[in-house]
Amino acid sequence: MQFRTVASPDDVQLDALIVPVFMDGAAFSGASAADREMAEWVAREQASSKLYSTTTHLRQTDGRATRLVVVAAGQRDDFDIQRAWEIPAAGVRALLASTAKTIGVVLETRALPSAEAVQAAVEGVHFALWRPDSHRTTDDESVLPPIETVLLIAGDGTVDADDAIRRGTAVGEAVNWARSLANEPANLMTPTNIAAQATDLAHAAGLDIDVLEEDQCRDLGMGSYLSVAHGSDEPAKFIVVRHHGREAGGYDLALVGKGITFDSGGISLKPGLDMHLMKYDMSGAAAVLAATSAIAHLDLPINVIAVAPCTENVPSGHATKPGDVFTSLSGKTVEVINTDAEGRLVLIDGVTYAEREGATRIVDVATLTGAIAIALGKHYIGLFGRPDGFVDEIRRAGELGGERLWPMPMSDEYRDDIKSDIADLKNSAGREGGAIYGAVFIEAGVGPKTEWAHLDIAGGAWNEQDRPFSPKGPQGAAVRTLVELASSISSRTR
Ligand code: BES
Ligand code: ZN
Ligand code: MN
Repeated sequence: MQFRTVASPDDVQLDALIVPVFMDGAAFSGASAADREMAEWVAREQASSKLYSTTTHLRQTDGRATRLVVVAAGQRDDFDIQRAWEIPAAGVRALLASTAKTIGVVLETRALPSAEAVQAAVEGVHFALWRPDSHRTTDDESVLPPIETVLLIAGDGTVDADDAIRRGTAVGEAVNWARSLANEPANLMTPTNIAAQATDLAHAAGLDIDVLEEDQCRDLGMGSYLSVAHGSDEPAKFIVVRHHGREAGGYDLALVGKGITFDSGGISLKPGLDMHLMKYDMSGAAAVLAATSAIAHLDLPINVIAVAPCTENVPSGHATKPGDVFTSLSGKTVEVINTDAEGRLVLIDGVTYAEREGATRIVDVATLTGAIAIALGKHYIGLFGRPDGFVDEIRRAGELGGERLWPMPMSDEYRDDIKSDIADLKNSAGREGGAIYGAVFIEAGVGPKTEWAHLDIAGGAWNEQDRPFSPKGPQGAAVRTLVELASSISSRTR
């Protein structure tokens, strides 16, 4: 897919033109006079004003019929980077099953700087063009249009946008890579296969990759991570990917992702309802690998290490039992109260590994707790961490990436509650405040001087319903936030 910014689509034969219109009746600022006239008329006379709803109309230029897709863009005052990718994505999804090859997307460059509008639109087009049906052998009505060229129409707000297009493409492709991994079933997306996919990704992006086998992890002392793998016949894989964007040693940022390829709960077996969805419990691993590949494609001048501890969590005669005690890489001992609280067991070793590799800032990403989905629903990622300045920087990165995060508390009361009677830590302290106990457990794996944050994406990683701008299924949560964070750190440390 090729993207190009233009002032107006006049001399190009488009198969479809997407024109968003605000509630105040005005089309996005990039629209030409004639297209503005038509889109605003459609919005007035025929279109629903419900945010993201689309109305398809006939557009005629030089006697050639094409499609005009009018997208309801909501209130102008509410327009932000998130809407700036969701609205073009909704427009593109109105073209499913069409034969459109060359399309135009009208941008809003007055309410948002044009580079941001361009990057968001490129990401939105990528986001819209993803389907979950990798194993269907027949097509249905939601077949993707064969889009080859996308003109981003900026009117008098046109600037040289090559860099924004490059960023949008790298991020959009990374998000869809993460979605494709999370979507694959657990019989196919095993730890071994994640390692193979990560190897391909690393080679394409010019990243270094190491895959640590179980015996290497044992020699290093990752007893907590390996305790989750005991029940499985699938070998665990501890994936480490490195981006060296500057000369000196050490890492400016470590990304650690939960890679549970299937979470049955282990001996603390989950109920059957929706258990099949626990194939996406490796979404954190997919997110950190994807983000690191985008960071490499963008040549960001920082050093980044991504760590993805991968394993299944299943019961068997070898599986960890409630009450078992293990020694984590940090040296702290952990009592496994509940084998279904396995994410924190793999992550505590993941963050310690990253710190020992020389990372001064660590962000872990995980579908960690049902409790975060109870607290925040699907629309915000739970954000924990310290110090406050680092947490704020991540929240701003989320805004720039078109994702939303909400800060959650941690305090010594919670840290006390996860002290075990028999060992240093226990992996569960009951249901109330469950997301916070997950966070303070992982925190115990890093030293007090290390900047650390934890993103609980259990709410937003998977949607059970289609949305106008996205099919149901994996959403690639946190990828954009992580890339923006890396870019924020690189502009700060340069
Ligand atoms: N992978 C789950 C969390 C999850 C639940 C993610 C639903 C996405 C959707 C995690 O490993 C888990 O089982 N957490 C438990 C923790 C509890 C046993 C302390 C939970 O949230 O119930
Ligand atoms: Zn899990
Ligand atoms: Mn679990």
